[in-house]
Amino acid sequence: MNLDISQIVPSIPYIIKGIWVTLQIVSVSLIFGFILGTILSIMKIGKFAPLRLIADVYTSVFRGTPLILQLFLIYFATPQVIGYDISAFQAAVLTFGLNSAAYVSEIIRAGIQAVDKGQKEAAQALGVPYTPMLLNIILPQAIKNILPALVNEFITLTKESAIISTIGVLDIMRRAQIVQANLYRPFEPLIFAALIYYIMVMALTLLGRLLERRLSRSD
Ligand code: ARG
Repeated sequence: MNLDISQIVPSIPYIIKGIWVTLQIVSVSLIFGFILGTILSIMKIGKFAPLRLIADVYTSVFRGTPLILQLFLIYFATPQVIGYDISAFQAAVLTFGLNSAAYVSEIIRAGIQAVDKGQKEAAQALGVPYTPMLLNIILPQAIKNILPALVNEFITLTKESAIISTIGVLDIMRRAQIVQANLYRPFEPLIFAALIYYIMVMALTLLGRLLERRLSRSD
């Protein structure tokens, strides 16, 4: 067996710097995806059919095509057709944000619609208008379904973000590949990168658990 972890020790700081790049892209995408996803979910639960249709088509397109294809479209293809400049970083955030919005919109929609309809009926019977009902009665209960699922989305994005290495963003994955090529050591850099992703995902999983426990306290 030819395994020598000491070989990559000098390159460890270089790979670790990728954590910041990955985190930056994932968190900006998540925020962008959350804002757009919220808008889409409001369109979905609303009464206006054309808006519902637009939101549904949006979701089905972004969930129905591979993320890497969307990334390549935004980074390599559309700039040529439409004529704009976009950095790899911007393309990554834009693609992941647009993609995540499709998933987040479903998380929020499902979370709201999972609240017992007796709550809505009781509010209506008491004459509570629609917006205060949604904000003060439905949403606080929906949050319990929504927040843990959003942490899952965070985890998914963190792992999926490794594909931005294909457009040259210097994230954890890309840095590991560069170290592989420089040292002619294919194994150790990948294992080290895997360890970093794993720790990040475990930290988020823990956060999700804490959140869920905190939210179930009022049950
Ligand atoms: N591998 C999936 C795809 O290519 C990733 C979907 C991204 N998922 C997400 N929850 N944002 O379609």
